[in-house]
Amino acid sequence: MRIEIVNSSVSGQCALKQGAGGGIFPSGIDLIQTRAQMNTDIANAAPAADGSNTRKVYVKTYGCQMNVYDSERMADALSKDGYQTTDNPQDADLLLLNTCHIREKAAEKVYSELGRIRQMKQTLAEQGRELMVGVAGCVAQAEGQEIIRRAPIVDIVIGPQTYHRLPQAIARARKGEKVVETEYAIEDKFEHLPQPDRKVIAKRGVSAFLTVQEGCDKFCTFCVVPYTRGSEVSRSVAQIDTEARMLVAAGVREITLLGQNVNAWHGQGNDGTEWGLGALLRQLSQIDGLERLRYTTSHPRDMDDALIGAHHDLQKLMPYLHLPIQSGSNSVLKAMNRRHTVKDYLDLIGRIRQARPDIALSGDFIVGFPGETDEDFEDTMRLVETVRYAQAFSFKYSPRPGTPGAERDDHIAEDVKSQRLQRLQALLREHQIAFADGCVGQTIDLLLEKPGRDPGQLIGRSPWLQPVIVNANPSQIGDIVKVRITRTGTNSLYADCV
Ligand code: SAH
Ligand code: SF4
Ligand code: F3S
Repeated sequence: MRIEIVNSSVSGQCALKQGAGGGIFPSGIDLIQTRAQMNTDIANAAPAADGSNTRKVYVKTYGCQMNVYDSERMADALSKDGYQTTDNPQDADLLLLNTCHIREKAAEKVYSELGRIRQMKQTLAEQGRELMVGVAGCVAQAEGQEIIRRAPIVDIVIGPQTYHRLPQAIARARKGEKVVETEYAIEDKFEHLPQPDRKVIAKRGVSAFLTVQEGCDKFCTFCVVPYTRGSEVSRSVAQIDTEARMLVAAGVREITLLGQNVNAWHGQGNDGTEWGLGALLRQLSQIDGLERLRYTTSHPRDMDDALIGAHHDLQKLMPYLHLPIQSGSNSVLKAMNRRHTVKDYLDLIGRIRQARPDIALSGDFIVGFPGETDEDFEDTMRLVETVRYAQAFSFKYSPRPGTPGAERDDHIAEDVKSQRLQRLQALLREHQIAFADGCVGQTIDLLLEKPGRDPGQLIGRSPWLQPVIVNANPSQIGDIVKVRITRTGTNSLYADCV
């Protein structure tokens, strides 16, 4: 399965407020078949690309970590229906693009990819082979039917809330229907998505994602997420606990809890009281064999004392926090509807650093939001100087259809955005390098995850999420070993086992 991370912070997820966003979210067609019916359809369909009965699916993933998780869950659903995943699109009977709508470039990538697929589909058709094409993810949710209008080779458009209906959608498409599934499903998709078997989990590695919360009610004025992922929904403690234990039983050592607004997660705890993310992390940290916990992405407004306390108390909770602020100017924050000030954010960071002094902070920034003045931008530079992020992502503002920001008439010129981005990225990079340099000479715990580029090398992650390269034996994958950092590379660290 191919995973291309276009935006590596967890976010960009869209929670669809039913009816929000005017006409940009067309309704889906809502025909449900039973699983038995669908299996018959698949069994009766033409043989697979290689003439066997096993069909192959190639999944290409854009966007955030939640899309990575979703792609795995879609692959799991398809595997129960006889599909094997392949890394080679030429072998596939089904091509599935799991898309991202967060910035214009991300969405346009999908259409250029569909252009290439059109040619491929034609070539295959000349060889007598059929290729089905599906578009999932946030572009699917935002554009629905429009995708099929612009790219008629697409057979299925399926939004994130209806992935459990994917096998039925395929069965319908096999009968010649163009399927658009973007309605919010009433049934809980997580109850209906099958879990992978142990071998599949083990193949995916020792570090796994687990979605605990989906959607967003914050409505930042630049962001499409509240329109593509629905309103905030938290999964239950029981569902999360069961999934975490299943991952650990199959060899997973590190779990990253995912949510568009992960720290808004809440649910009824085992003791009958209402829990927040801090309590959930406490519960999960008791699972034997689970060595590391992380979570992303957090909103500053939802960072409560219990969660900060978890960073102090839980050894398994890694000292890394992605806490986007977007801008260092109060007037821009207000225009973005972030509903906190720079002071609120800095006070919060002070409390977090007090609880966990070695915490590495990460953030997201947008430059050139409509109305952003030179002075506003300098405020962002000052904030970055104050916080000194260990890592950060920064973007030029991209107007997204249907969001309030896009409607404004004081957009910033492209060259101004570019200059600001360049300056900001240079400063962020300087701090990232300084943070990495500060690691040299330290002895740290390293979770060994996978083979490195050169023979004899393994790659792991430091507690602060940096990739670390070390000479070690492949049989050690999954172990947490003590290593001493010897030097820095471009985006990684080098270490020796101690
Ligand atoms: N839920 C997270 C982030 C969601 S989107 C949060 O609350 O911060 C991931 C990142 O993409 C955002 O943090 C933001 O920096 C960036 N982003 C979102 N919309 C954007 C837009 N219209 N233009 C440029 N960057 C954007
Ligand atoms: Fe988007 Fe804001 Fe929600 Fe984050 S909090 S997903 S930036 S609307
Ligand atoms: Fe993620 Fe992009 Fe959607 S960042 S939530 S896939 S818009």
